Amino acid sequence: MRYIISIILIGAALGAAIVGIAGFRGGLSRQPPIEVFPDMNRQLKLRPQEPNPFFPNGVSSQLPPSGTIARSEPMQTINGPVYPFEDAPVNTGRVTGTTNFVETNPLPVTGELLQRGHERFDIYCAPCHGRLGDGNGITKKLGVMPAVANLHDQRIVVMTDGEIFNTITHGKSTMAAYGPLMPAQDRWAVIAYLRALQLSQLGSVDDLPPDQQKTLNQ
Ligand code: HEC
Repeated sequence: MRYIISIILIGAALGAAIVGIAGFRGGLSRQPPIEVFPDMNRQLKLRPQEPNPFFPNGVSSQLPPSGTIARSEPMQTINGPVYPFEDAPVNTGRVTGTTNFVETNPLPVTGELLQRGHERFDIYCAPCHGRLGDGNGITKKLGVMPAVANLHDQRIVVMTDGEIFNTITHGKSTMAAYGPLMPAQDRWAVIAYLRALQLSQLGSVDDLPPDQQKTLNQ
């Protein structure tokens, strides 16, 4: 009996405490609320346009660090005109001022770009699409991602580079977006390498010089 009474009393006291603390949430008060975890609501920081003796020009607003591009800032595309970065094919995969995908890679395809693409492809794409791009990556063996596209499908072979860029950037159904993980240049490098992979599967004997064809036929 004593136990029951003390349990009831403790329960009542706890209840009163909970109502006392939580029950007044939403109530108006001139006091700042109790912050158990302040979540960095208040922190030391510089406000734009405020005087700040720390910097040589005396204000907290500084020019952007070198090598960075403001989103609206014009950007020189390789051997093309100057576009605002936001609307440059290299960043969107689309023809500037339209929603049409660009046909081909806006970056010059060099050995260096292909090598970079090879490396990035093996890191970011091979787990699902396989190192050959045939859709037989490790995720298929493990059974965690059954329906992975075969990148040698005719449909993807004839797809514009811009649309593939769009797929890498934003993802497609069960494929996640890789835009946040890979800089635009790397996405184009992967596309260049993917084209080389596709070509490697499309070659025929007729592509060989005649003397090599002969050797092969022997
Ligand atoms: C986590 C697994 C996974 C990874 C990693 C992945 N993909 Fe995919 N990808 C898929 C799946 C699944 C599909 C099929 C989506 C669908 O249902 O159309 C697909 C589809 C595609 C397609 C065809 C899109 C279309 O229009 O049908 C392309 C092109 C592609 N991936 C390229 C890439 C490239 C390039 C990378 C590396 C940057 C990559 N994927 C990384 C899972 C992945």
